[in-house]
Amino acid sequence: MPFERTIMITGGAGFIGSHVVRLFVNKYPQYRIINLDKLTYAGNLANLKDVEDKPNYKFIKADICDYEEIKKIISTNNVTGVIHLAAESHVDRSIVDPFTFARTNVMGTLSLLQAAREYWEPSGWSACRFYHISTDEVYGALELTRPEGDPQASECGGGPFGDDFFTETTRYQPHSPYSAAKASSDHFVRAYHDTYGMPTVVTNCSNNYGPYQFPEKLIPLFINNIRHRKPLPVYGKGENVRDWLYVEDHARAIDLIFHEGKVGETYNIGGFNEWKNIDLIKVLIKTADRLLGRPEGADDDLITFVTDRKGHDMRYAIDSTKLNEELGWTPSLQFEEGIEKTVRWYLENQDWLDNVTSGDYLRYYERMYKL
Ligand code: NAD
Ligand code: DAU
Repeated sequence: MPFERTIMITGGAGFIGSHVVRLFVNKYPQYRIINLDKLTYAGNLANLKDVEDKPNYKFIKADICDYEEIKKIISTNNVTGVIHLAAESHVDRSIVDPFTFARTNVMGTLSLLQAAREYWEPSGWSACRFYHISTDEVYGALELTRPEGDPQASECGGGPFGDDFFTETTRYQPHSPYSAAKASSDHFVRAYHDTYGMPTVVTNCSNNYGPYQFPEKLIPLFINNIRHRKPLPVYGKGENVRDWLYVEDHARAIDLIFHEGKVGETYNIGGFNEWKNIDLIKVLIKTADRLLGRPEGADDDLITFVTDRKGHDMRYAIDSTKLNEELGWTPSLQFEEGIEKTVRWYLENQDWLDNVTSGDYLRYYERMYKL
């Protein structure tokens, strides 16, 4: 059966990308889904074992910065939709190695845009779409005006830690090299819409959590450390606030926006779920200890306050009202349920964690795919 269309998902071997690939491969057998990924340290094809044999799934190892190669892949496969997640994504790495972030996130996005334009523009952009996945970090940081948190604040339209939220019209004010590079890539995407008429859509999402996240990010790192009874390095005083969304809810939003979002628009994605780091860490410890059969409080002593991250953004809080009102999206999972599922998944998938922390997984897939 010929496929209705071919959609290329970049960064599909990473954390969020693997959930998006899985959703599209399973939900749309009529689409051919290409997962294009360079397989950096963060890319892991083991994240997609359950779909790798599906007839509508194809993996291509390539670097988004390789313009000639990307052009060839788009034209030979007749790609008409791009969902672009490939990026360097860890703030701490961007602080030590900003060049890699500029190369991948800015030049890689530009190379994809130009390659897609070359193939799509002559046909008048017919049935094409370039969907760029961005982050709430481009908006900068919000103040912590209620440091103790006020669960009642939402009744007055505010968040528990402050009245304001990031909306789609909030001024860009990135602070880290990571968010500066993401902001720059967002501008290029909008420029391709405004200048050439490319059918683009951009979304800015809050912090994701769930299975298959590389254990350098707070939640999987801390679950793994609790399991091994290693110190939990809390930056500064642990007072920074992040707005957490279960990764499958993000993938559902991406599906909806890819199909129904308005061309040229931006949508914020978030679950109105702000947590102060230290409170979230206590929930992680409590949940992990219960699941590991350890007495409550057994691992509280692992909390170790360390030197703060340079330029550490204080608070992120996303207002996703537009997405809810225009397209009807809401998160499906309560945080308590999401965190329980997540902690359980990492504890039950210790091989996955051990593999990605040892680096063996890269060598295994290199052999398997003769890369
Ligand atoms: P990740 O680091 O887990 O995965 C990134 C993927 O991109 C990896 O598979 C990697 O191999 C691939 N990649 C990197 N450089 C590449 C290149 N040059 N060519 C091809 N592939 C390359 O990232 P993630 O957390 O899944 O984030 C995915 C996207 O979502 C990113 O664009 C990120 O900015 C954005 N985002 C992430 C979050 C979050 O909480 N993780 C929140 C909002 C937005
Ligand atoms: O907001 C969306 C962003 O969320 C995404 O765009 C990024 O790709 C993603 O990495 C994430 O960025 P953060 O910097 O918020 O996530 P991270 O997991 O690195 O850190 C979460 C918070 O925990 C942050 O305030 C820093 C703190 N932290 C993190 C680590 C790794 C610690 O206190 N100790 C740690 O060891």
